[in-house]
Amino acid sequence: MCTLSRTVRCSGPLRPHPEHAGSSKSVAAWDTAASGSPTAQVHRGILETIERDEEHAKIARDHFKAEGLDDRIKILLGLGANILPALQGTYDLIYFDTDPAESLIDLEQFERLLRPGGLLMSTNLFLGQYAPDLPGLDKTAEYRLRILDSDRWLTAYLPDGTALSIRG
Ligand SMILES: C[S@@+](CC[C@H](N)C(=O)[O-])C[C@H]1O[C@@H](n2cnc3c(N)ncnc32)[C@H](O)[C@@H]1O
Repeated sequence: MCTLSRTVRCSGPLRPHPEHAGSSKSVAAWDTAASGSPTAQVHRGILETIERDEEHAKIARDHFKAEGLDDRIKILLGLGANILPALQGTYDLIYFDTDPAESLIDLEQFERLLRPGGLLMSTNLFLGQYAPDLPGLDKTAEYRLRILDSDRWLTAYLPDGTALSIRG
């Protein structure tokens, strides 16, 4: 889902890690391998992914192990809203693909965690066109506006609705 020159091709966020000088660390804000295929290919760097569902987490763990990536990808089990506030340090990249109702809480944490110049990739920001009664669409609408706030972000949208935002 994302490619950085010397770090990660992944579906989550990245940051420098003291134990991996010269490499980077990535935290995938929820989402793991529920789809049945590995969601991350880490060549250098560290990726953390947050997943609330134990079964999804197990599937993901098995995929990461099969790909030889289990020493580079850490699954944080729980709700993003509970786990993100406890994360420390600075991340290079964050990938957002989760519960619309949590989106604003999460965005606040992304603004805390992402380094200036870091990349936020946000998906599923237009779910209302498929599921107009989905809870949390109002939060997603605010999220879309906030990443257009030029004091905080420089944002562009891809044709499929994915937002790419550079942290100001
Ligand atoms: C849309 S799927 C992610 C799919 C993944 N990006 C892929 O391509 O395979 C969302 C995943 O996030 C998890 N999830 C949803 N809401 C969450 C939350 N609030 N906190 C943590 N995980 C959550 C779900 O259990 C599911 O595994």
